[in-house]
Amino acid sequence: MSKVAVVYWSGTGNTEAMAKAVEEGIREKGAEVSVFGPSEFDASKVDEFDAIAFGCPAMGAEVLEETEFDPMFTAVESSLSGKKIAIFGSYGWGDGEWMREWETRCNNAGAVFAVEPLMVNEAPDDDGIASCKALGASLV
Ligand SMILES: Cc1cc2nc3c(=O)[nH]c(=O)nc-3n(C[C@H](O)[C@H](O)[C@H](O)COP(=O)(O)O)c2cc1C
Repeated sequence: MSKVAVVYWSGTGNTEAMAKAVEEGIREKGAEVSVFGPSEFDASKVDEFDAIAFGCPAMGAEVLEETEFDPMFTAVESSLSGKKIAIFGSYGWGDGEWMREWETRCNNAGAVFAVEPLMVNEAPDDDGIASCKALGASLV
């Protein structure tokens, strides 16, 4: 059975709602899924998983959350070469700059996207939830 990790940060629950749907999509496809907060995940765990979904909203001024998520991702990204990944997150008023920069970082690290990055405005609606489930399924 394939093993997939979901690693996310959420301040007000929108990215968390996305992460729960991602988790469901992975499970429905028959894989084993483990969910982590940023403080629970590090580079030594990357090889335990066939694929990883990372989730983080737009924070600061169009950046990843800087206290927990970005330090974790910075430590992990050099281990992502050849790893199947997906990235997702919620945003408010921006144009998705944080997600474009994050995608570039992942590509520079040599990660392999299973699906396009997924961003949802504030709380995910039914379409957003369906897209999150599909993102999860694409990692299996
Ligand atoms: C401190 C802070 C900074 C934010 N910065 C941005 C931003 O730069 N661009 C943007 O589109 N939304 C920004 N937002 C809005 C959040 O990305 C949005 O509310 C999102 O749904 C939060 O996700 P969460 O509920 O998973 O924490 C910011 C929100 C907060 C609280």
